[in-house]
Amino acid sequence: MQIKEIPPEDTWQLRRDVMWPGQSINYVQLPEDENGQHFGLYLSGELVSVVSLFVEGERAQFRKFATLPQHQGKGYGSKLLQHLIEQARAQGITQLWCNARQEKAAFYKRFGLQETNHTFMKGGKEYVVMEGSIPMAVATGS
Ligand SMILES: CC(C)(COP(=O)(O)OP(=O)(O)OC[C@H]1O[C@@H](n2cnc3c(N)ncnc32)[C@H](O)[C@@H]1OP(=O)(O)O)[C@@H](O)C(=O)NCCC(=O)NCCS
Repeated sequence: MQIKEIPPEDTWQLRRDVMWPGQSINYVQLPEDENGQHFGLYLSGELVSVVSLFVEGERAQFRKFATLPQHQGKGYGSKLLQHLIEQARAQGITQLWCNARQEKAAFYKRFGLQETNHTFMKGGKEYVVMEGSIPMAVATGS
């Protein structure tokens, strides 16, 4: 297993296939991609999980977190998110936030992110804004 920084275009197909399979590649390309940091987790040379970090001063947002379905639930996403948090910390980021799909809120809570009261709908899915301070207060128990 290898985690490394990758160019934005390497994330696009995986983003689309996993997150928005019915949409075109354009739908998952972000205007901000060029200025983002993109991380990929590889298994035997195959890209299986991606996540992108966008720095805004001492705050940063992560977006477009996706693992290939056949590799989900094996801990790869957690390793990649932990790597992103370490990278953010090394850059002096003190606040991390994301627009979380509602069904993923419990997952992010384990990394120290908390739900805010800001929720919204996009593409028929419910989202909640989650945020946390770095270093993260990792949740214990479930
Ligand atoms: C969110 C996402 C990126 C997580 O990636 P992942 O590689 O599946 O992440 P992990 O395997 O580390 O964790 C996923 C679940 O498996 C569990 N898990 C982790 N390691 C495990 C292991 N070795 N054995 C069994 N389960 C494990 C985790 O506790 C977690 O449980 P939860 O979903 O009940 O919280 C992935 O589910 C995904 O791509 N989903 C579709 C797109 C999406 O929703 N993106 C996020 C938008 S906010």
